[in-house]
Amino acid sequence: MATSKTKGRSVYACTECGATAPKWQGQCPGCGAWNTLVESLAAPATSRFASLAGTRSAVRPLGSIVARENPRVATGLAEFDRVLGGGLVPGGVVLLGGDPGIGKSTLLLQAGAALGAAHPVLYVSGEESPEQIALRAERLGLVNAPVELLAEVQLEAIVAAIGTARPAVVVVDSIQTVYTEALASAPGSVSQVRECAAQLTRLAKERGISVILVGHVTKEGAIAGPRVLEHIVDTVLYFEGDPHSAFRLVRAIKNRFGAANELGVFGMTERGLKGVANPSALFLSQHDDPVPGTAVVATLEGSRPLLVEIQALVDPVAGGAPRRLAVGLDPQRLALLLAVLHRHGGVEVGGYDVYVNAVGGVRIDEPAVDMAVLLAIYSSMKNRPLPAKLLVFGEVGLAGEVRPVQRGQERIREAAKLGFRTVLCPSANQPKQAVQGVEVVPFDRIERAIAWLKAL
Ligand code: TYD
Ligand code: MG
Repeated sequence: MATSKTKGRSVYACTECGATAPKWQGQCPGCGAWNTLVESLAAPATSRFASLAGTRSAVRPLGSIVARENPRVATGLAEFDRVLGGGLVPGGVVLLGGDPGIGKSTLLLQAGAALGAAHPVLYVSGEESPEQIALRAERLGLVNAPVELLAEVQLEAIVAAIGTARPAVVVVDSIQTVYTEALASAPGSVSQVRECAAQLTRLAKERGISVILVGHVTKEGAIAGPRVLEHIVDTVLYFEGDPHSAFRLVRAIKNRFGAANELGVFGMTERGLKGVANPSALFLSQHDDPVPGTAVVATLEGSRPLLVEIQALVDPVAGGAPRRLAVGLDPQRLALLLAVLHRHGGVEVGGYDVYVNAVGGVRIDEPAVDMAVLLAIYSSMKNRPLPAKLLVFGEVGLAGEVRPVQRGQERIREAAKLGFRTVLCPSANQPKQAVQGVEVVPFDRIERAIAWLKAL
């Protein structure tokens, strides 16, 4: 706890049930949960959050309300605009989360520089000195970018600076470094991060400023990750990607002003992030000959199809319990797929360690990847490669059925475009007309898909 000269009357509120206690204690007096009390301001919630939802208004019939498109401020970085749903919205608050070093500050400095030409931009940095930012700007070739810089971590000072500079866009890098005098807890704690974000959000709504908050994704612990802010802000974007590869994905997890699940794809270069307009083939590794344990899937997260190689390694257990590890894929889903493979595919995996990986640090949450995971596992287990130029997609159900996925045609066409010659897909996704260049092989059960592979 930083200081004892607390200004606000703080109380300790439970994050589970909302009960409050005047002092911190390990167990919540309301619901009995452990370690859920965090310091909060005692002021009534109504005054602190009143303007989050806009001005107070009367009850009106839906039909009498004229819908307005939110005006957009394009950042000039096409891939960033794509995930934002067309650009920043005045009064909108964006949270940009990601691992340290993935490229958040780089992206926002580039966006700020592009925006600065037409809109006043204030870049508040709590992590780096103006000199360090100038060094980055030099590297990016943006030394004369029309961006105002402020190195500050105290919320009240930041708010005052916003009042004087009157920016249209404010970047706060990062929200974990900002603290308010009103709370005694340390910067980066749940209560500080939440309170500061709520105050900046209120300011954004009141003045029609676009605010972008940077949040580091951190392991669970004393430091609050961006997750605690997801419900406060309008748009939540996460940076993904393997820091050792050149590609970075920015994914919209939530967007009150546009489609969630949209993806922006960037390459990290010597001179900053460059948008990749045509990313579909980025996540395929290049094998000269087909290798066992790999399968390519066409995923459709966001509006563009993305072809991703799924790799599996199945190895006899060396002793102890078998290991299951999923990188970029849901581990629960892996467990489920292994059970289905055993029961309906007749493939026994009990005595094996199973590792699966989506190439390039992509995360795939779509069930359309199920068939690719199963076939990669099967291929590794049998030590036999799948046929060359084969693409597969389809959701697998517990009964062993292969379920259709959305926009199957689009996936098949993308496969054809990139030179795939065979597509295994759910029967219900079979196109009515032949797609030039590919043979489509439909399946409705996983045992049939396995029998087809065996017969090759
Ligand atoms: P940074 O934006 O500082 O990451 P974050 O704010 O998310 O912590 O970028 C970090 C990495 O990007 C750093 O390791 C260096 C690399 N980088 C480049 O490869 N090219 C560039 O032009 C810049 C500015 C950074
Ligand atoms: Mg940074």
